[in-house]
Amino acid sequence: MRVAVIGAGRIGSVVVRSLVRCGYSEIVATGRRDETLKNAASLGAEATRDNDYAVSSSDIVFLTVKPHHLPEVVKSVKPASWAGRTVVSFIAGARLATLEKAMAEAEVYRAMPNLNAEVGLSSTAVAQGTRTRDMATVDRLLKCMGRVYWVPEEFLDAWTALAGSGPAFIAEIIDALVLAGVLVGLPRDLAYSAALDVLEGTSRLLRESGTHPFKLRDDVTTPAGTTIRGLIAMESEGVKAALMKAVESAYRRSLEIGAEIDARVKRELGISD
Ligand SMILES: NC(=O)c1ccc[n+]([C@@H]2O[C@H](COP(=O)([O-])OP(=O)(O)OC[C@H]3O[C@@H](n4cnc5c(N)ncnc54)[C@H](OP(=O)(O)O)[C@@H]3O)[C@@H](O)[C@H]2O)c1
Repeated sequence: MRVAVIGAGRIGSVVVRSLVRCGYSEIVATGRRDETLKNAASLGAEATRDNDYAVSSSDIVFLTVKPHHLPEVVKSVKPASWAGRTVVSFIAGARLATLEKAMAEAEVYRAMPNLNAEVGLSSTAVAQGTRTRDMATVDRLLKCMGRVYWVPEEFLDAWTALAGSGPAFIAEIIDALVLAGVLVGLPRDLAYSAALDVLEGTSRLLRESGTHPFKLRDDVTTPAGTTIRGLIAMESEGVKAALMKAVESAYRRSLEIGAEIDARVKRELGISD
């Protein structure tokens, strides 16, 4: 099977690396700048500026360009070249209905991975279009980047807020914990390792034991002990509400951006509803 990655930038490079790690060797990746092409070639892909060649010579196509580059990419590929191709779009905001009109006769999916794909731990949500046939192949390829969740398309904005922006929110929490460790006397490196360990270990414990977070919290909290003092501080500072509002704000922005992007793509490609 040959795979095309259209736009070998940040996430496109991660796709190439993940597929290579998974044992796929027939990969062609595109970009415009020499630097992009050189990087794609160094990762093991055939590198080219020719999107039409990449699409027409492949079975599966990952679209990993920025949203405003989508119309230009679509125009750079002959309409006939999309026929029979399986296209997985990572492009935020571009809706399945629009993608299916733009790439008539392609089998189109829309997916939202996150940056944790860099270490094979993406949480990728994927939605199928109306012409989808080969979900198993798409599932297999996306699993090279991490966990895969099949969802209805209308979940993707919420997913973008929670799992797409999530690594940034978690990074902020880790940074705060590190500063807290330093505040109470730990060397920075040690505090950093402890924060990462606690996050990783707690995630794993919750996942593997099936324990509810409330139960884990109560198990750690002894009467009049240290944890309850920390918890009352978190409660009075509104930590939970702040995190909920962060995800909700990101969700609303994702809806706004999605509407703008989709309208722009339709306008530039002359697609009507
Ligand atoms: N980064 C993430 O964590 C992440 C996560 C989920 C989804 N996404 C989605 O993935 C997409 C890409 O994001 P990114 O952060 O990877 O952006 P990026 O680093 O800017 O990569 C985009 C790449 O597309 C290439 N490109 C632009 N126009 C092209 C064209 N006409 N033909 C061929 N290649 C072209 C660019 O190549 P040149 O530089 O050579 O022009 C660039 O390398 C976005 O739509 C974003 O919503 C990203």
